[in-house]
Amino acid sequence: MDKFRIEGGKRLEGEVRVSGAKNAALPAMSASLLTADEVKLANVPHVRDIVTMAKLLAHMNAQVQVSPFAPNDVGLHAADEVRPEAPYDLVKTMRAGVLVLGPLLARCGYARVSLPGGCAIGARPVDLHIKALRRLGAEISVEHGYIEARLRRRRRLRGAPVKFEKITVTGTENVMMAAALAEGDTEIFNAAREPEVTDLANLLNAMGATVMGAGTSAIHIHGVEKLHGATHRIIPDRIEAGTLLCAGAITGGELLLTHAEPNHVTALADKLQECGVEVRDEGAGRLRVKAPGASGQQLVAADMTTEEFPGFPTDMQAQFMAVMTQAAGTSVISETIFENRFLHAQEMVRMGAEIEVSGRKAVVTGPAKLTGANVQASDLRASAGLVLAALVAQGETVIDRVYHLDRGYEHLEEKLQAVGAKIERVK
Ligand code: EPZ
Repeated sequence: MDKFRIEGGKRLEGEVRVSGAKNAALPAMSASLLTADEVKLANVPHVRDIVTMAKLLAHMNAQVQVSPFAPNDVGLHAADEVRPEAPYDLVKTMRAGVLVLGPLLARCGYARVSLPGGCAIGARPVDLHIKALRRLGAEISVEHGYIEARLRRRRRLRGAPVKFEKITVTGTENVMMAAALAEGDTEIFNAAREPEVTDLANLLNAMGATVMGAGTSAIHIHGVEKLHGATHRIIPDRIEAGTLLCAGAITGGELLLTHAEPNHVTALADKLQECGVEVRDEGAGRLRVKAPGASGQQLVAADMTTEEFPGFPTDMQAQFMAVMTQAAGTSVISETIFENRFLHAQEMVRMGAEIEVSGRKAVVTGPAKLTGANVQASDLRASAGLVLAALVAQGETVIDRVYHLDRGYEHLEEKLQAVGAKIERVK
């Protein structure tokens, strides 16, 4: 198992390119199951979850081709004889595997998809996906760890109003994809407004679907009989961009992010500015972050509550917590999306951070002097939080289980090295 060895205390400075968004690429790849034509995606990050999704699609008889000249260009072709099954072995390592449920059902009238199971950050059920697809006319049973969904006595799903009792990102995406090929109209109420949902709507529309209102909480889909191929560029990864903004802030550095989408990181940028960090949109996808420190100022603590988009993302909570360990004052961090997403706090405490966790709140008091230690990553974003803490810790930190990080960050260590971090992967 790979580890990271990080020597803290280096100020980061320079230019970093933001990769494509994993969480937009995953539903886009699933959407390729909706058509017998080829779907070409650009700006797909080469990370482990994407490889897993590619394996899943290949298992379903889709052809997945990575361009030999541009490794972020991926062609997906589910021409015929789609095998509507997502086995446990592939879904267990990546919950987003459930995203094939809607497309398979719409394309084949049948789907057998393994239940994803729990994960470190919480129970993460898929009951809302199931309920919503039932509203579109699917008969769904859950047996032997598999979701089995079918259409009886009809060829297509039928459009219907779907009201989510709780906002769910992949739930909204699953319904959007299923409804794109349904008979009649579907209205999704209380839909997720994340940019990844809008990106999927744009792809579906390029494939011939009629999806309106994505980015708001009411999405209208007018079902069509057939979709065709399309070419689509995946949006920049707002969580990677956010992680890099925090890397600049925590190391007292200055970074220029390129190929970013500043409008997708507003909540974090506002919060960092509240803490004394300068974040400036320089146009053309460039975003500059400048930590306080030039004239003796320091980071100041601010409270933060995670929320659905456009609020502060839960996927940035661990990284923001790392920054708060270095800020003067007390920061109360509230996690409202997942019930168990503070596992990184104990590891940061082992590095010298002052953090008290009580239920869904963590109180961080800073600035604390962090020192290098052996720590363990527990999930994707927790790993990123630990990398940030290690970047300012005195001495050497070894982070174990970086396979969590590899699920969603493309070449993170190389990007950090290029701007002055001392970080290496130990095989
Ligand atoms: C997406 O997960 C992201 N994954 C997650 O990214 C992200 O943390 C999360 O949205 C929240 O922003 C992808 O896009 C592939 P939800 P998703 O359904 O869709 C509850 C990362 O690090 N819920 O919006 O699975 C659920 O338990 C990750 O990249 C139900 O109760 O999240 C949670 O409390 C991890 N029943 C809340 O809703 C359901 O059927 C929101 O989850 C579905 C969800």
